[in-house]
Amino acid sequence: MATPLQIKQYREQGYFISDDAISPDMLAALEAGARRAVEKVRSGAVVATAERISIGGPGVEPRHVLGLIAPEFGEPIFAEYLMSEPVESYVRALVGGPLRLGWVALIVLCGPTEYDTGWHRDFGQEERDGSREVELEILGRYRKNLVKWHLALVDDACLWLVPGSQRRYRTEQEREVLINNRKGDVPHAQQIVLQKGQTIFWNGNTIHRGRLPAGVNERLTLTGALVKHEEDQREVLDERFRWQLADNVRAGLPVRMQDYYDRWRQVQDF
Ligand SMILES: [Fe+2]
Repeated sequence: MATPLQIKQYREQGYFISDDAISPDMLAALEAGARRAVEKVRSGAVVATAERISIGGPGVEPRHVLGLIAPEFGEPIFAEYLMSEPVESYVRALVGGPLRLGWVALIVLCGPTEYDTGWHRDFGQEERDGSREVELEILGRYRKNLVKWHLALVDDACLWLVPGSQRRYRTEQEREVLINNRKGDVPHAQQIVLQKGQTIFWNGNTIHRGRLPAGVNERLTLTGALVKHEEDQREVLDERFRWQLADNVRAGLPVRMQDYYDRWRQVQDF
């Protein structure tokens, strides 16, 4: 259960870390499922693109694995996890319900490799260099009903963020790293150090960066999201999830998740 302190930290600082958002049994099963899913993409047994999930094709070294709940993966653990009681309880504490599908995906790094996203806000197609008025309007509106999180399947110290930056206009120094020098230093940045099994619930409107620490060769982190459903709020299909429109996706989901799927589908413009 989310504590009042965690909820306060989420509202003010833009994140909190939980030790109990997953049961030990589920964690072991998810890690095993994640490693199998990565191997399926690597071997070409499953080809997972934003457009479509299919079986048999060229293998690739994955960095993001989408489509984990698609029937082609044959890994029901991911849908079970997305609907698991602790996850849903945290999300409901933050945004209420009813909920609709967000996503469940893997961030995979298998080294030695370079990884540095540079500083950004997760603004999608929104203006990234707006005036104070424009930026505050986006911060007040964008993804307000979405809760996202990272679950570390192995220790993960890749995420950096500027606490509280989701609530205010960027400073001049922040603008410099958001626009001109995305790999520069920025004041008050905090490294998020997750131990295996810890979950960070965080707001992507914060100024943040993903960077593999020197000497670390592996990242295996599950990213998830659920959305408070508001049926009058249409949304433009996020092209990363076009594969979810395929006819076989809904039927492959657990019955309870079909409701989540239907609510998602109902508001998509594509
Ligand atoms: Fe991001």
